[in-house]
Amino acid sequence: TIGKSTNIKWHKCSVEKVDRQELLQQKGCVIWVTGLSGSGKSTLACALSRGLHSRGKLTYILDGDNVRHGLNRDLCFKAEDRVENIRRIGEVAKLFADAGVICIASLISPYRKDRDACRGLLPEGDFIEVFMDVPLQVCEARDPKGLYKLARAGKITGFTGIDDPYEPPLNCEIVLQQKGADCASPSDMC
Ligand code: PPS
Repeated sequence: TIGKSTNIKWHKCSVEKVDRQELLQQKGCVIWVTGLSGSGKSTLACALSRGLHSRGKLTYILDGDNVRHGLNRDLCFKAEDRVENIRRIGEVAKLFADAGVICIASLISPYRKDRDACRGLLPEGDFIEVFMDVPLQVCEARDPKGLYKLARAGKITGFTGIDDPYEPPLNCEIVLQQKGADCASPSDMC
């Protein structure tokens, strides 16, 4: 039994991941970008996508904000909804990787356990976790959407980093630090 479905059986097709990868001349994988709001996740995802695209690689971005406009429109920001948001994006990212695409998932994904669960969906080496290691003060000073201001004013509750937790990765593949005072913009990778 998988989840709540019973009497289901995996259907295999003769066109497999290896064939799609051969066709695309690339390896499907997931690049998972995690960090606080305003840490530069979407900027990095877009720059990465642009760079790979210009080198002839097929990419697709799953951005938390964007996916919440459709597939995840039924979810809010309470803990159980964030867990479900991460789970769904992890599963969709896995499908993209299986399709042979370089999938860039860019979402706060504040809980370590749930990011690790997404990692567990992929073969070893196919999940690359990137931590945007930007202090809260820097993100808050940027405040590109004015959300930190609203959170400080108590107009948004449960805002990550203010009154909701963020658990940084302990053992991720890549850490991007933006700690200096000159790192005013996410494009200033230090
Ligand atoms: S999560 O935690 O992974 O489920 O979040 P995610 O899907 O990435 O969505 C984060 C974006 O939603 C906006 N937003 C909030 N973020 C954090 N906490 C609260 N309460 C909240 N409410 C709205 C915010 O614009 C986030 O976008 P980014 O790009 O991270 O700034």
